[in-house]
Amino acid sequence: MTPPIIAFFNNKGGVGKTSLVYHLAWMYYDLGLKVVAADLDPQANLTAAFLDEGRLEEIWEDSDADNYNTVFRCIRPLLSGIGDIAAPNLEKIDDGFSLLIGDLQLSGFEDELSSQWPDCLDRKERAFRVISAFWRVLSQAASINSADVVLVDLGPNLGAINRAALIASDYVVVPLSPDLFSLQGLKNLGPTVRRWREEWQERIPKNPAPDLALPEGKMQPVGYIILQHGVRFDRPVKAFQKWIERIPNTYNTEVIQEDKTVLTASDDPNRLALLKHYQSLMPMAQESHKPIFHLKPADGAIGAHVSAVQAVHKDFKALAHKIADRTKLLLPNSPLALEPE
Ligand SMILES: Nc1ncnc2c1ncn2[C@@H]1O[C@H](COP(=O)(O)OP(=O)(O)OP(=O)(O)O)[C@@H](O)[C@H]1O
Ligand SMILES: [Mg+2]
Repeated sequence: MTPPIIAFFNNKGGVGKTSLVYHLAWMYYDLGLKVVAADLDPQANLTAAFLDEGRLEEIWEDSDADNYNTVFRCIRPLLSGIGDIAAPNLEKIDDGFSLLIGDLQLSGFEDELSSQWPDCLDRKERAFRVISAFWRVLSQAASINSADVVLVDLGPNLGAINRAALIASDYVVVPLSPDLFSLQGLKNLGPTVRRWREEWQERIPKNPAPDLALPEGKMQPVGYIILQHGVRFDRPVKAFQKWIERIPNTYNTEVIQEDKTVLTASDDPNRLALLKHYQSLMPMAQESHKPIFHLKPADGAIGAHVSAVQAVHKDFKALAHKIADRTKLLLPNSPLALEPE
């Protein structure tokens, strides 16, 4: 059975999706889960976070491309009409921790996903094979790695790649920044995700191929994460506090359509975290290809950085637990998990 597939999605760019997926993937691995991190953003930033340039070059410029089936190379036979999806070659990050490698060429899949979408309504088998390709690749990746969870990074738009990626997902987490753009973005995101869910439900019964398993397309909203790194620090705190206070109601109305009035932002059960600007720790982590909470004095984390690194660990551990609670993910050290013998 495929483990929970959790997508991190916002059509607004630069809010911190990729950094979140990267850090949470490491945190779940540290907490004892087997993890697949999947890069379904054609910008491939998640892949670049995990791998250094030498390795990227080796993979992307390999002439015998079959050696490294990136996400794009997995779906390429389907695109060229010579077959169905190919099995992924996952990049091993650690034992039980793998990356489904991203690929800049993935943008070439957008048009095909767009044109096959209406064809599902005409009961065309190929249309269902194309639209479900991401889910089938993710399921294979999970099975190869015996994964407990799959975390998916997406690009910032409401295009056909993201529609297929969300259909492949059981859960959606929405990272956002406390500003007008993010709030306006939610007004597109909420209705669009709901429409995609409904349109997929309408298509599922029209699948003509009994042997072709399809995703359920639940894309259940888990909650939102506010990332404050985007806000300008020369602006008074009040300026972004105003947006923080407005997020709960907008999220309620636009994304989950529950009309409960929330008194204060900090009481909002949909708010999974409010993450700070991690200052120089973020570039330090990127340079070392490590999550912030693995930084050591040799990486430059000295002095006041030491306690800052511990604080980041605490933030991400709490966030990982909160998301796990809402996605029925059993963490080995959670009270729900069986104690080891
Ligand atoms: N908590 C943080 N503290 C400091 N910097 C951060 C934090 N989170 C993200 N950043 C930085 O902000 C920038 C944007 O982050 P990231 O690439 O994760 O966003 P994104 O939403 O994935 O962007 P895109 O929409 O382009 O995919 C990056 O340079 C990243 O290093
Ligand atoms: Mg990104």
